[in-house]
Amino acid sequence: MSTRRPTIGVFDSGFGGLTVLKALYELIPEADYAHFGDTARLPCGSKSVETAARAAVEAAHFLESHGAQTLVIACNTATALALDRITVAAHVPVVGVVEPGADAAAIASRNRKVVVIGTHATVSSHAYRKALDARGLEAREKACPLLVPLVEEGWVEHPVTQEVARIYLAEAFADGFHDADTMVLGCTHYPLLKPLLQRVTPVHVSIVDSAESTARAVATRFQQLVPSSLSNGTERRSVPRMKFFATDSTEKFQQLGQRFLGHPIENVQHVDLKE
Ligand code: DGL
Repeated sequence: MSTRRPTIGVFDSGFGGLTVLKALYELIPEADYAHFGDTARLPCGSKSVETAARAAVEAAHFLESHGAQTLVIACNTATALALDRITVAAHVPVVGVVEPGADAAAIASRNRKVVVIGTHATVSSHAYRKALDARGLEAREKACPLLVPLVEEGWVEHPVTQEVARIYLAEAFADGFHDADTMVLGCTHYPLLKPLLQRVTPVHVSIVDSAESTARAVATRFQQLVPSSLSNGTERRSVPRMKFFATDSTEKFQQLGQRFLGHPIENVQHVDLKE
């Protein structure tokens, strides 16, 4: 007898959540996935709390109506601005990226001093500072807004991107944070820049990827949230079934998305969310 495979819904403001989806399906191939990229409202890193929260709640309901039994808010900005509102509005468990990122930083840091890089909205919310403070870590948050468009341009190994990152990180690690020993990638686009960021970050610094730590947190919860699904009768296909939804051009989502996901994307459906 084969039991239906559980579906994990993944929400992001656009393409960046595909880095979280990649980490998720590598760790939890037993699930199916529905990914919602709200590309029509991209970038959310510069949006107000109200706009970001409203869009994220609508997307959460959409994913639930498509069978999601767990929701992953795979966007640092949406998590920072709206996780509470999404959690209240949703009927299924919701996991954001900030708490897992903070947990991973707490494990990685020896001297309890951490730099977090993200969008303006994430940094202004101080969601990471609060989460790190609650774990006894001191945080310097630094907005690096130019990195998102550079990644979307495909300039992940480009001298301009390296110089921009070098300037941002020199500011982040200045004034009392020279000795910070951990840096959290608090934006879904930054994992694509990991090799470049490693080169311009002080050598003693460990880089924490919130996409990977979120996938680990979901994997742990997954076993509790969907009891027995992994061990008892669940159909064990090695390749998860993935559905993609985008609010703007499906062609663009396919083209740009494959850079984030690391393999071709097919069958993207267009969705119109009401304003
Ligand atoms: N997904 C956003 C984040 O992780 C970055 C892209 C955007 O600004 O929409 O913060």
